[in-house]
Amino acid sequence: MNDAENGKRAAAERALALVEPGSVVGVGTGSTVRWFIEGLARMRHDIEGAVSSSEASTALLRERGIAVYDLNGVGEIPLYVDGADECDGSRCLIKGGGAALTREKIIAAVAREFVCIIDPAKRVDVLGRFPLPVEVIPMARSHVARELLDLGGQPVWREGVVTDNGNWILDVHHLQITDPEALETAINQIVGVVTVGLFARRRADRVLIGADGEI
Ligand code: A5P
Repeated sequence: MNDAENGKRAAAERALALVEPGSVVGVGTGSTVRWFIEGLARMRHDIEGAVSSSEASTALLRERGIAVYDLNGVGEIPLYVDGADECDGSRCLIKGGGAALTREKIIAAVAREFVCIIDPAKRVDVLGRFPLPVEVIPMARSHVARELLDLGGQPVWREGVVTDNGNWILDVHHLQITDPEALETAINQIVGVVTVGLFARRRADRVLIGADGEI
């Protein structure tokens, strides 16, 4: 296993210790979360089940014998565990490399605690080296792209990718995100944007980095 994979696995194992017995666990998406799901499978008799942020995670959870509930029917989610593409020193995140950003943001909003799990390479001083994903209504793609250009980014259509919600993704390159909350708010205002993959207004409460880092 390479360093990145070791870091992902170690962070995921640490998050398992935070799972409350008998609870419904919020589960994110991606290769780091896959390690978390494998661990959750070992604890499946101690939890009630999960709410899931993507069709891919739902399929894996069910394969591992974990019940997956509709978010609308669940009273409380004490813990949401998810990965990220980048994380700054204030626990603001770029997410959506796996195109699951909208459902991820919804579960993060509902959960009492959002714990992010990353390998050390994801920790940056300033967000933006990783292209910022923006989920858009398909007919608004060109309009949103023009608005993102005005905000100083270089949007690139992730052609061929359709999100679980039937929408498209623009990846915005060449941003130096020094004020993540302001940029999140500005992009949220663009008509046709469903979700921006900046998690600043609802950022992570804790970020577990590899085997022993934390912010
Ligand atoms: C999914 O849309 C993303 O937000 C993931 O959480 C993010 O891309 C991290 O994925 P990895 O754990 O695969 O790096």
